[in-house]
Amino acid sequence: MTKPVRVAVTGAAGQIGYSLLYRIASGELFGPNTPVRLSLIELPAAVKAAEGTAMELEDCAFSTLDGIDIHDSPEKGLEGVNWALLVGSKPRGPGMERNDLIRDNGPIFVAQGKALSRAASDVRIVVVGNPCNTNALIAQHNCREVPATRFSAMTMLDENRARAQLALKAGVNVGAVRNLAIWGNHSSTMVPDFDNATINGKPVTQVITERKWLETEFLAAVQKRGAAIIAARGKSSAASAASACIDHVKRFLTKTPAGEWFSAAIPSDGKLYDIPAGLIYSFPVRSLGDGKYEVVRDLKLSSFTRELIGITTKELLAERDVVKDLLT
Ligand code: NAD
Ligand code: LMR
Repeated sequence: MTKPVRVAVTGAAGQIGYSLLYRIASGELFGPNTPVRLSLIELPAAVKAAEGTAMELEDCAFSTLDGIDIHDSPEKGLEGVNWALLVGSKPRGPGMERNDLIRDNGPIFVAQGKALSRAASDVRIVVVGNPCNTNALIAQHNCREVPATRFSAMTMLDENRARAQLALKAGVNVGAVRNLAIWGNHSSTMVPDFDNATINGKPVTQVITERKWLETEFLAAVQKRGAAIIAARGKSSAASAASACIDHVKRFLTKTPAGEWFSAAIPSDGKLYDIPAGLIYSFPVRSLGDGKYEVVRDLKLSSFTRELIGITTKELLAERDVVKDLLT
């Protein structure tokens, strides 16, 4: 019998938690032969709702679901886990930027960072709660026992959104759009790198020749998609965010095929693309399939993209400054 993978989800009773937990429990993430033991972590006031989610998970009768534990503290909830999916935090409302949440949500990741010292020795951490890059930075600084490279923040939703917009414009299936890297912050300064992406193996710019559209409408649509969803639904994205979280973990678990990459915010080592060391920064990443990954080197960046990368970098440096009292 394979040993269960232990997965913690914070904010288990929230909207993303509701979509995410079923897809983990069903075997979709780790495969049909790997049992999963879930640790649902919630605020005390939401534990009852988490119990309801757990009842429904049981009622799905997933043969891959080994068991469910519910916790109202990160210390107990993160103990022994192999994956920590840190979702629980306040979402923004209409008219807000994600980094307006920083002083409310940042402290959550201090406590969770400290509690991660109790996780399994191979733990990997994915931060979804916003502002996710800087929250991941806070968690990582508060958990020096776990190597920094095990911390990531999610920009897969932005990559998926960008691929979907390009596919719509080109009239192709979204699967034809590959290698769409998001650079920088999961914020309205993020940079979707259309110059290095491909559609059916050809550079995007050869298929969509209207460069002005790429630099204006496309860029704005991707950067502001989260806000557009809030304006339409009255609540932020949930099913697509959960789906992107599944994609994020799967991409890290699987060796990336030669010549391909995906987007994830990971700690910058300061050696590549002039991005300051230490920032949790979205790069084009390749998984080596054994728990390790590398940033794709030597991509040619247009002056347009380089300028935008400068802006998103400045924003992340400013966010780091705002939370400097939370960093150890
Ligand atoms: P939600 O309000 O529906 O749920 C959040 C849940 O987190 C609530 O149940 C709440 O009780 C819980 N929670 C709050 N503080 C907690 C803590 N300290 N420990 C454990 N649980 C805690 O929100 P949601 O729609 O699920 O969104 C969650 C977060 O994800 C938000 O910050 C949102 O902005 C972010 N988000 C990020 C992305 C991304 O692409 N990175 C996409 C969508 C949403
Ligand atoms: C998103 O991109 O949908 C999330 O980060 C939620 C938000 O606040 O936009």
